Amino acid sequence: MSATTTWNGSTERPVDIRSKVTVSIDGEEVSMLEGDTILDACNAAGKDTPTICYGPTVTPVNACRVCVVEVEGSRTLVPSCSRPIEEGMVVTTDSDKVDHSRKMVLEFLATSSDVSQAEDIQGWLGDYGADLDRYDPETTERMTDEVKIEDDLYVRAYDRCVLCYKCVEACGEDAQWTFAIAMSGRGFNNRIATEFNVTLPDSACVYCGNCVAVCPTNALQFKTEFDLRKMADWRPEDQTVTRTVCSYCGVGCNLDLHVQDNQIVKVESPSDHSITNGNLCVKGRFGYQYVQNRPSDS
Ligand code: SF4
Ligand code: SF4
Ligand code: FES
Repeated sequence: MSATTTWNGSTERPVDIRSKVTVSIDGEEVSMLEGDTILDACNAAGKDTPTICYGPTVTPVNACRVCVVEVEGSRTLVPSCSRPIEEGMVVTTDSDKVDHSRKMVLEFLATSSDVSQAEDIQGWLGDYGADLDRYDPETTERMTDEVKIEDDLYVRAYDRCVLCYKCVEACGEDAQWTFAIAMSGRGFNNRIATEFNVTLPDSACVYCGNCVAVCPTNALQFKTEFDLRKMADWRPEDQTVTRTVCSYCGVGCNLDLHVQDNQIVKVESPSDHSITNGNLCVKGRFGYQYVQNRPSDS
């Protein structure tokens, strides 16, 4: 827990009064704090646990189930991202049952959505030996919505959406409290939509881009990135990322500027920042053109 500086300049270290809880992760005893999740304990034990609907800044809604583990005494597999630990809990992460379940979840997602730009998911597909060819394309249905390009800030490509709810949470109670998007439809028609499916500019969206920041598949992406990818010129390996402070207001949000060929192409914010938790407003997220559009450029 980090130290904080008070109004009179003294430094205080907040005391964490949560009790200690000891759990077993694959036979290793891990000491955690009350309220931590099984995923926290797995991370502390150095286990690589796949997660899709979990994010450090959003409330997990247990939508994907890729993080499941075995818990002694539990009849079914348990989502590690949301289940709090209990004293003496015995957790197994490396069993055939866990591997098989994670593999199936990944196969279902990758055969119903385009996950080609989701680096983590691509890695886990390999790790868990997912075999997409065993699914008949006739029996799997993929969302085929056209990419929604409604402004110059970000695009929505819902054929990449894995329905993880993170954007809905970020737009709602977890960050923005705008509620411009929600889950709509049923079954294969389940999708993220604005109210009455209006365009973003006609919706309640305030363009904070906090949905873009949490999307795990690039279904939501900066228009700059979308355009560069279309021209086969999106080159993360050639980009620099510079941390700076937003100059628009006194909140002083941290910005991570992704720069390619001397142009800002994407703006993120560190999710571990205690004030903003990775969230920005429209100015910090998208108002960077003034940096590079000087009168002499026109
Ligand atoms: S658009 Fe992205 S964040 Fe939103 S539900 Fe789909 S995959 Fe998740
Ligand atoms: S991102 Fe918005 S809230 Fe944060 S410092 Fe910039 S203008 Fe202020
Ligand atoms: S990451 Fe735990 S249920 Fe999705």
